[in-house]
Amino acid sequence: MVPMRVTPSGPTVYIVGAGGQLGTALQARSEGVCDAVVRPLTSADIDITDPTSVAAALGDLGPDDVVVNCAAYTDVDGAEADAEGARRVNTAGPEVLAARTADAGAWLIHVSTDYVFPGTSEEGSRPADCDGYEPDDVSGTPATVYGRTKLDGERAALSVDPRATIVRTAWVYTGGPESRDFVGTMRRLEQSRETVSVVDDQLGSPTYSHDLADGLWELVAAGRRPQVGGSVLHATNAGRATWFEVARGVFEEIGAQPDRVLATTTADFPRPAPRPAYSVLSGHSWEAAGLTPLRPWRHALHAAIAASDAGARSLP
Ligand SMILES: NC(=O)c1ccc[n+]([C@@H]2O[C@H](COP(=O)([O-])OP(=O)(O)OC[C@H]3O[C@@H](n4cnc5c(N)ncnc54)[C@H](OP(=O)(O)O)[C@@H]3O)[C@@H](O)[C@H]2O)c1
Repeated sequence: MVPMRVTPSGPTVYIVGAGGQLGTALQARSEGVCDAVVRPLTSADIDITDPTSVAAALGDLGPDDVVVNCAAYTDVDGAEADAEGARRVNTAGPEVLAARTADAGAWLIHVSTDYVFPGTSEEGSRPADCDGYEPDDVSGTPATVYGRTKLDGERAALSVDPRATIVRTAWVYTGGPESRDFVGTMRRLEQSRETVSVVDDQLGSPTYSHDLADGLWELVAAGRRPQVGGSVLHATNAGRATWFEVARGVFEEIGAQPDRVLATTTADFPRPAPRPAYSVLSGHSWEAAGLTPLRPWRHALHAAIAASDAGARSLP
């Protein structure tokens, strides 16, 4: 892809996984946010599991540069039957990138997930009425292959490059009617079904990809300070909701009757990978690092749907 130059001088920020949901949002939100050259790298430009490919794509990496790794094996159900594939991308991949950033003295920001937690508030040593999981709450073994390989990827990245930063997020969506995320899926189902049944017993932190991208750009612009180098941070929109509540919010935003969304339970929707009952991430670590809290999830959902509708209206 052609590099996007934000300003003519300054460090280079490499977006790895640029063709994915978050990578696309990071590019969309890069305009003028920091004094950097932005270089998006898709899976056609770099294979993070291959040290030769990484050396070639990040050959010019210097100590002022930043690598934001959004590349991952994100098919949570598929990973259950392809543990080796998931491990290559989610564990070996960040390790290879970390070796390159450590060698160059560059800053690796590696994106991770709520699935590293056990998925129940009790097991996570957090009472149900707390502000959510804190970064140090990881205990026990994640319930899914995806979660285990992502947790191992965090640990591998930090052990090879102790000055890297891990940013965990959760329940990411962009919200356009065509998007493969939850919000896009609800918008399509609203068109094709009279009622939609959605689980009401999984609690998490819905996160608009553009808000997360803005937060990551703020992190990049603030630089690798002692509060963030070698740290794990949590970045999600504020508040908590069940998928049922998010679905009702989507229906409200698109002018559909929210009562058409019916509550159901996880037991009614068996999946190859068990879904966490509790995935709320606390924003304390983000604020303690001097970064702006992401707005409440319901405001973000409103903005996401308005932005996608405005984008659709401006199409020829
Ligand atoms: N989406 C969520 O709800 C969510 C929630 C919590 C955390 N996260 C984390 O957020 C990050 C970004 O997720 P996302 O939603 O943007 O995922 P995504 O849309 O699935 O994008 C992942 C990207 O990684 C690329 N990729 C896969 N294997 C690669 C390899 N070996 N080398 C280079 N690139 C490779 C994929 O390229 P191809 O498509 O060409 O293979 C894809 O563009 C991930 O770390 C994920 O674990 C996501």
